[in-house]
Amino acid sequence: MKIIDNAAEMRAWCREARRAGKSIGFVPTMGALHEGHLSLMRAAAQGNELAVASIFVNPTQFAPHEDFNQYPRTFDQDVAMCASVGVVAVYAPTARTMYTEDYSTFVTVGGVSEGLCGGSRPHFFRGVATVVTKLFNAVEADRAYFGQKDAQQCAVIKRMVRDLDMAVEIVEMPIVREPDGLAMSSRNRYLSAEERTRALCLSQSLFAAQERLQGGERDAETVKDAVRQGMQGVKIDYVALVDAETMRPVERVERPVLLAVAALLESARLIDNVKFDPAGNGGSLT
Ligand code: PAJ
Repeated sequence: MKIIDNAAEMRAWCREARRAGKSIGFVPTMGALHEGHLSLMRAAAQGNELAVASIFVNPTQFAPHEDFNQYPRTFDQDVAMCASVGVVAVYAPTARTMYTEDYSTFVTVGGVSEGLCGGSRPHFFRGVATVVTKLFNAVEADRAYFGQKDAQQCAVIKRMVRDLDMAVEIVEMPIVREPDGLAMSSRNRYLSAEERTRALCLSQSLFAAQERLQGGERDAETVKDAVRQGMQGVKIDYVALVDAETMRPVERVERPVLLAVAALLESARLIDNVKFDPAGNGGSLT
């Protein structure tokens, strides 16, 4: 396992590998790894000759009042987990090398980054698009793997790669859930046992709504109302039914859509979603 902490060395490593004819699959993460992250790494290792992961808690995607300092940092365990699923190199830059004191360049992606998480965390996607651009410039990969858990993030990255002609293919992977349905997240470890139980209402109300969509319901307001009704005991940040590609709200479900929720518990903000394609097999994408 190679651990690399600067962009120049990371790029040199990738260039040598690619000169030798080896394809590279890349999984960007903020560490505190769980099965969701590992599913991306397994896919990267399977679909490419070499799998590379990055571990970097990116300060620019956290607002001052958010959990940057508190965010779990479990580096040694993370590296061991990466190795266990076939990752051969970990890019782990420091905040100081990523963002010099006079750092002043940012990437903003219009349209898809507005609304949903972009509405409640206005700084967020600028930080994500900027750091992912920097990571892509260091890890010159053939493919990069992202989770549907952060569906709007996937849409933002896909749009950025398309608009800026970046030479990487984005692969979106399904949400990995706990046996009881809770979407895995590094932030789940903030939850008390009691909060963890209450958090189940996110996935449960999404699954119930998905069934209604499969049963033929097409009115967005009806679907969102049912989800809101199901989310008792948590503070709803948003319930959104949007076009799966543009992230624009829809009134009727006529194309592939994303039904996404965010909720605040006392110790964490959680997000979850399901996708639905009215023309698809059984209507469901995930
Ligand atoms: P992080 O939250 O660590 O997530 C890294 C990747 O793992 C993301 O693509 C995310 O969607 C995916 N992921 C997280 N939980 C998942 C789950 N339960 N099932 C499937 N995939 C899951 O997302 C970020 O980091 C950052 O914003 C980053 C892209 C690294 C930029 O800083």
